[in-house]
Amino acid sequence: MSLLGLMHFAIFTVLCLLVLTCVPYQAEASTRFFFGRKPHVDVFASEDGICASSVLVHGYKCQELEVTTEDGYILSLQRIPEGRAQVSGGGKKQRQPVILQHGVLVDGMTWLLNPPEQDLPLILADNGFDVWIANTRGTRYSRRHTSLDPSSPAFWNWSFDELISYDLPAVFDYVFSKTGQKINYVGHSLGTLIALASFSEGKLVNKLKSAALLSPVAYLSHMHTQLAVVAAKSFVGEITTLFGPAEFNPKGLPVGAFLKSLCVYPGIDCNDLLTAITGANCCINSSTLDLFLSNEPQSTSTKNMVHLAQIVRRGVLAKFNYVRPRYNVMHYGEIYPPIYNLSNIPHDLPLFISYGGQDALSDVRDVETLLDILKLHDVDKLSVQFIKDYAHADFIMGINAKDIVYKNVISFFSHQVSN
Ligand SMILES: *[C@@H]1O[C@H](CO)[C@@H](O)[C@H](O)[C@H]1NC(C)=O
Ligand SMILES: *[C@@H]1O[C@H](CO)[C@@H](O)[C@H](O)[C@H]1NC(C)=O
Ligand SMILES: *[C@@H]1O[C@H](CO)[C@@H](O)[C@H](O)[C@H]1NC(C)=O
Repeated sequence: MSLLGLMHFAIFTVLCLLVLTCVPYQAEASTRFFFGRKPHVDVFASEDGICASSVLVHGYKCQELEVTTEDGYILSLQRIPEGRAQVSGGGKKQRQPVILQHGVLVDGMTWLLNPPEQDLPLILADNGFDVWIANTRGTRYSRRHTSLDPSSPAFWNWSFDELISYDLPAVFDYVFSKTGQKINYVGHSLGTLIALASFSEGKLVNKLKSAALLSPVAYLSHMHTQLAVVAAKSFVGEITTLFGPAEFNPKGLPVGAFLKSLCVYPGIDCNDLLTAITGANCCINSSTLDLFLSNEPQSTSTKNMVHLAQIVRRGVLAKFNYVRPRYNVMHYGEIYPPIYNLSNIPHDLPLFISYGGQDALSDVRDVETLLDILKLHDVDKLSVQFIKDYAHADFIMGINAKDIVYKNVISFFSHQVSN
């Protein structure tokens, strides 16, 4: 293949991966645009921040905070210290902290798009938790650095390895230092992967009380869409070598043109793109989807997308592969990148896992691989929920997620005793 051909193919593949990995979001967005229905005008002024636009307006307290990672990224963090109905100054009962970690190509706003009584952070606050919403580097409110500018390639020189090494520890340390208590964690999608990988390396666990993993992603071999096949057969590993680190901004891409190119691809049914890509989300209200479209997707780095593609293709959760053995040796002292060995997750770590039967990204077979790895986990520390009708985005935006999922998360958190 010519260099131009290779680049073209590589770009196409990254776009495919965009759809695959950000799955529901981009797919829904795409479907909507595709059918000519524009989302409503921006409901939120982005300058306002997440507290002002989505929390304070509902009568909850909310603080905008920032945390600087060891490698210099300044991350935004929102704290909702208590529920709406809380009688302040009352009982001295300490509230347990909960960190919420979103997935790839979205930010912390993604937890707050339903009416307040259906949103996980607000439900947690109302149930007596001290809620902290994380926002990964590169997303709208986390685009600052002590020395780098987002317009420079060096700002985007990271993959989820750095979210594991820097972002998560920074947020955990901060919350732990402010509350002095062990932390409950809720992750969705990539937010589950980086947590599992961290735990497998013994990171965070000394500050962790329990973790709820919604739509868990650790293995990605079975994403069941035609697009997955295209991605899996490709060699996106070369992309960073070709282009260097860069911002991967879904909003900056010609989505319409991309969709047209997808529709002529064999096996892609544009009449049902949403279902074909994400699995059929059973329970998302169209007004929530409109809000979603005016707020997401958010940027990540090309290197992060490539890393995810590597996980899809190799079927094993490993560190970023620089492809050239010399580079791997330089970074890891080995020819192949080291794996995150999930067997090493401490067996007594309280884990709640909830997965969906219709999820095309977090495929049932891949979750079963994860559960198989966890088969030596202490039985009373692992709680698994399977929701037949749920797909990827139902876990964060489903109108009935409160009753089906969040209720169980809260009950799980409430029943773990700190050790
Ligand atoms: C990206 O980071 C690697 C080290 O991990 C370094 O060798 C490379 O020069 C960096 N590239 C840019 C553009 O900062
Ligand atoms: C969908 O959202 C609209 C607007 O917020 C609301 O009026 C309607 O009741 C919602 N539907 C369901 C099933 O929750
Ligand atoms: C992962 O860790 C387990 C237990 O420590 C070990 O038996 C296994 O060989 C490791 N797997 C790999 C691929 O290193």
